[in-house]
Amino acid sequence: MPQIAKFPGNDHRPSCGIASIGLQLPPLALAVEELANLRGEDPAKYTIGLGCREMALCPPDYGVVDLATGAARRALERWGGDPDRIGLIAVGTETAIDMSRPLSAWVADRLELSGAVRSYEVKHACYGGTLALRQAAEWRLAGAAGSHHGQERAALVIAADVALYEPGDPGEPTQGAGAVAMIIDEPRIASIQPLSFPWSEPQFDFWRPVGERFPLVDGPLSLDCYKRAASHCFQALAQHSGEATIENLAAACFHVPFPKMVKKAVFALGAALGWSEEHTALFFTDKVDPTMSWNQACGNAYTASLWIAVAQALAGLPAGETIAAFSYGSGFGAELLLLEAGVEAAAGAWRQDFEQDLASRESISIERYQQLRAGDPVRQRPPVSATG
Ligand code: COA
Repeated sequence: MPQIAKFPGNDHRPSCGIASIGLQLPPLALAVEELANLRGEDPAKYTIGLGCREMALCPPDYGVVDLATGAARRALERWGGDPDRIGLIAVGTETAIDMSRPLSAWVADRLELSGAVRSYEVKHACYGGTLALRQAAEWRLAGAAGSHHGQERAALVIAADVALYEPGDPGEPTQGAGAVAMIIDEPRIASIQPLSFPWSEPQFDFWRPVGERFPLVDGPLSLDCYKRAASHCFQALAQHSGEATIENLAAACFHVPFPKMVKKAVFALGAALGWSEEHTALFFTDKVDPTMSWNQACGNAYTASLWIAVAQALAGLPAGETIAAFSYGSGFGAELLLLEAGVEAAAGAWRQDFEQDLASRESISIERYQQLRAGDPVRQRPPVSATG
């Protein structure tokens, strides 16, 4: 029997949600202090000024397909369902390896998933993974999933990215990589509130024209857009469900380009909600900051960043507790979701993926980093923001 969602204003809707989570980090990492020394910056700028710690990196023979497939394999194994029951594979990424063939086809190939499956890639900068998850949830809620041997079909949703900037770009210390895969089925780990709170505006804050290897970034504009989006989305939630919904959250997860950007957005949304600075600071310390330590161990993983924070927040959460998930993708599109912990959140089985990958990965020297980036031209042009 489907469970009934308990979110305010939605208690008449059947719920569906996350039945399994798998994470994958790449096998290399670099401490940001090492990069600071190379670039002639004070390491405190990266650690305190930006809130970064380590960046996860891929060796030459490893990439987004490995990340996506690794996370998916772990999520499928943990789920334990019949793979033939998967009726949708959606991969959110901005590390596309082909302009036509979707990343989902590479993943499906490796996992031998084929048949009555809708398989595709979703692009909207860092928002793509959230859109994939929303589409999967709405596909189930709409009754479009159909069934396999009498059981409703499930979806495999993956958010996977490798985030690299041009060597010397101010965004270089925020680099990272990672993937999160989720099976959308019965809400054993978390149910997803059907109603969400989107906000979008067409902007050029961060983009990568066809053929460009690295993104072009207007840092100050992207910060402004991100703050504005967070303020609008949280105001919409407060108007719909009451401010108590925000106060009662067990955690508020954000897309994490770097932790300081999240902190600035939280202060912007606090001001928009009329909170005092003290109240906002407490909200940040209690509900937001604790969700970002996995992000600090891997850096920005674009589409996966929010879902890494969500995976951390859900691991160990008692059933019935609610968390918020704020997704932002440059261009820009944003959406605020609410998730309610299910009975399997408390066990947090997917925590072992993160711990295992962290324990087995190699911390590389700055010389090895330079070798990895040897083919990449060092930044010649000024940052977009400096040229207006
Ligand atoms: N000790 C402590 N903090 C220091 C410091 C030091 N020695 N030197 C600088 N800082 C602080 C600055 O005060 C600033 O903090 P503040 O904003 O709270 O004042 C922070 O470090 C960054 O310094 P700044 O000079 O703004 O950095 P920058 O011009 O090199 O820009 C980024 C770096 C990462 C902020 C910028 O490139 C950017 O925004 N990039 C990408 C944004 C993004 O990822 N967008 C994706 C879409 S969401």
